[in-house]
Amino acid sequence: MNSLAHSLDSSGALIDLNHVQKSYDGKTLIIKDLNLSIAQGEFLTLLGASGSGKTTTLMMLAGFETPTRGEIRMMGKPIQNVPAHRRGMGMVFQNYALFPHMTVAENLAYPLKMRGLNRIEVQSKVKRAIEMVQLHDMQQRRPTELSGGQQQRVALARAMVFEPQVILMDEPLGALDKNLREHMQYEIKQLHRRLGVTVVYVTHDQGEALTMSDRVAVFHQGDIAQIGDPVSLYEHPENAYVATFIGENNVLRGSLVARHGHEVEIALDAGFEARGMGVTMPIGASKKVELLIRPENIRLSPINQNSYQATLADRVYLGDHLRIHLKLDNDDTLIVKTANDEAIKGLNNGQRIGFSWRPEDARVFAQG
Ligand SMILES: Nc1ncnc2c1ncn2[C@@H]1O[C@H](COP(=O)(O)OP(=O)(O)O)[C@@H](O)[C@H]1O
Ligand SMILES: [Mg+2]
Repeated sequence: MNSLAHSLDSSGALIDLNHVQKSYDGKTLIIKDLNLSIAQGEFLTLLGASGSGKTTTLMMLAGFETPTRGEIRMMGKPIQNVPAHRRGMGMVFQNYALFPHMTVAENLAYPLKMRGLNRIEVQSKVKRAIEMVQLHDMQQRRPTELSGGQQQRVALARAMVFEPQVILMDEPLGALDKNLREHMQYEIKQLHRRLGVTVVYVTHDQGEALTMSDRVAVFHQGDIAQIGDPVSLYEHPENAYVATFIGENNVLRGSLVARHGHEVEIALDAGFEARGMGVTMPIGASKKVELLIRPENIRLSPINQNSYQATLADRVYLGDHLRIHLKLDNDDTLIVKTANDEAIKGLNNGQRIGFSWRPEDARVFAQG
């Protein structure tokens, strides 16, 4: 389906957003200063909490909303004045938006008829789209006669039937239960691989974003907090927001004591000194810092001179791992994730336990 000869602009991007701002009321900026290049064929996910501006961004790409300031280019040309149906973008929403009075085949034919294709072309493209999402037996059914997952597959096929260059998806799996959602994630990913189409995908589910995407843009209050591939977002978060939004992190507050290159020494409010990496911390930044350490990176041990100390507060069995709650001396809780109960065997809640982490696993940021 990616057979159109696409040319790229000098930056190599298919779509560029340059200093895009959006305000609905002329006062509040919902999108503050968005700069984003979308490469041809990539699977880019906009990930963020509700209200962070993901849908607004997608609507501006689709042509249903106009930027208040800034510019959107496609293949180097501004598209502000190109209407939605001429942008070559297919859209899939959470609530499918299928036509209830039309059969599956008619739903798929609709965007093609709208674009003035003849009967033969419509028939062959509908056939291909139906094959693509494997709904052969369902062609003559109406949406109400399909399951949620089947309806979503029709919506997907309908967005792709006119062979768009770009597919925009806004929380397309939000209404499905967990198993079906995971299955559809896999199907969408397979389709993307097979067709090489550019996908801009919106979700608030970080697991979904990490499993499906080539790159993820983490949205926070109308800005991109960080953009990168899943591994770098998880392993090298550039700020505390991303570190806590992607995956899980314990956040411990304290103040900066000393620097040794990228490694910093922190006096934690919990009453002990610890080390971590302060890579993104500017010299002379605030001395108030937070140290972030992932539950799986904390090691439990008998108390020794290299370990810190806390009180064992609770243990929760979760099948493939244990979550252990430690109470620090300032009453903060530290969550530890471990595959076995070796370290706490024979210990009762309320007893003291040692723990430690490798400085390279802890990240230190200025307090925001
Ligand atoms: N049509 C609209 N008119 C006014 N405010 C809107 C409109 N659409 C969205 N907003 C506001 O813009 C902010 C971002 O919304 P949205 O882009 O839908 O975020 P997300 O998709 O990340 O949840 C929210 O505060 C929302 O209330
Ligand atoms: Mg939204």
